[in-house]
Amino acid sequence: MALVTTKEMFKKAYEGGYAIGAFNINDMEIIQGIVNGAKAKNSPVILQCSTGALKYAGAKYLKAMVDAAIEETGLDIALHLDHGPNIEAVKEVIDAGFTSVMFDGSHYEYEENVRLTKEVVDYAHARGVVVEAELGVLAGVEDDVVADSHIYTDPEQAVDFVNRTGVDSLAIAIGTSHGAVKFPPDAKPELKFDILEEIQRKLPGFPIVLHGASAVDPQTVATCNEFGGNIANAKGIPVEMLRKASSMAVCKINMDTDIRLAMTAAIRKTFGEKPEVFDPRNYLGAARTEIQKLVESKIDTILGSENGMN
Ligand code: G3H
Ligand code: 13P
Ligand code: ZN
Repeated sequence: MALVTTKEMFKKAYEGGYAIGAFNINDMEIIQGIVNGAKAKNSPVILQCSTGALKYAGAKYLKAMVDAAIEETGLDIALHLDHGPNIEAVKEVIDAGFTSVMFDGSHYEYEENVRLTKEVVDYAHARGVVVEAELGVLAGVEDDVVADSHIYTDPEQAVDFVNRTGVDSLAIAIGTSHGAVKFPPDAKPELKFDILEEIQRKLPGFPIVLHGASAVDPQTVATCNEFGGNIANAKGIPVEMLRKASSMAVCKINMDTDIRLAMTAAIRKTFGEKPEVFDPRNYLGAARTEIQKLVESKIDTILGSENGMN
């Protein structure tokens, strides 16, 4: 048993009309919560690390814990670099044993994004590692860059980009965004499914990725706020829209905010209800259980990847 790339996972997901969950990892409880959820549903999973996560925990620690998760669960797991900012970051994680990388050149001018992505693809493919790139800009905060509004992906440009770079999957902008506030309080959530449909038609069989795809459960936000939190204007992507995307060309759905909210709600609730507790296993254990429940529910209601290991 070893880490896998996303190649086979995406092929089966595309053909089966489902998607693989890509969850951000930062520590042991998050990793265990996610893989316990995936194991309960017999589902493959992608564990991804941002550069912030690598700085926080270290690539060696994260990789070693993911190796342990594979040994314990026997699941197909891909270890992915999320929003890699440059080729140096890509080289570092490939050296550490990651099987998948994202190079995010979406903030560059188009030709520069093509050039830099192609450089990453050549490097990664020579080492058996798959590459995700991004075209279009998600509104909100991304890699410390704040974009005021979406720049939706142009389907024509997506075809040119995929053909010229040789990327294995492409993250597109259709109205999702990072973080807990994805739409203004009075706005009706909307995704540009016409763009996704056109990309799917122009690039049949090609795996598409959705970033910023947390659903932001109002009850979880309410629990955070009930126990001392102050999370305002939170609004996520409706579950039925995410399920629809999963049934289409979207093969990878990125979720981080929902993990953060589940963990924070569990810890705040434990502190609020049991002020005498000071054993970290108590509140981190509660967080791990909530993350597992969240992942199981994502697989049931959004991803459709149950028994994807068969
Ligand atoms: O897309 C970004 C992910 O939510 C990771 O966030 O850079 O704060 O770890 P981070
Ligand atoms: P969310 O903030 O919606 O969870 O998105 C996470 C993400 O896209 C990580 O790359
Ligand atoms: Zn992202």
